[in-house]
Amino acid sequence: MQPIPRLYFITAAVFALLGMIWGIVMSATMDHTLSPAHGHLNLIGFVMIAVFGTYYALVPKATEGRLAVIHYGLTVLTVIVMVPGIVLAINENGEILAKLGSVLAVLTMLIFLYVVVRNRSD
Ligand code: HEM
Repeated sequence: MQPIPRLYFITAAVFALLGMIWGIVMSATMDHTLSPAHGHLNLIGFVMIAVFGTYYALVPKATEGRLAVIHYGLTVLTVIVMVPGIVLAINENGEILAKLGSVLAVLTMLIFLYVVVRNRSD
């Protein structure tokens, strides 16, 4: 497997493990207050990154140039900003990080759309 999709899959697995441990802690403590943050860690950190990694594995041409790495960095940054942002918002400690995280999430998906449209399969 090419290095870039491998990086996406390793990152996805790490976020999934963190999200699962968080889920187990929520279950064990019976405190589900932060479940939206857990959900976003799993869905953006695992599912979205794994979907992007699958695309880059299927279309190696799309990994040429810098955009796939920028896309990776922006997606990881989205998780790092959004998940604590949701925790802060739930705890009523401000919404700015959650808002910034959602803007980053949209940018991440716009880049994905651009990459898919630009790399027509042959
Ligand atoms: C060891 C694995 C996992 C455990 C123990 C776990 C546990 C939990 C718990 C206790 C809740 C709160 C349920 C409630 O309050 O009704 C929850 C919510 C949720 N989980 Fe997980 N989870 C796990 C893995 C995952 C994975 C892999 C995903 C997605 C790919 C995921 C996505 C979600 C979502 C979307 C919610 C709902 C969030 C919300 O209500 O806002 N979870 N999980």
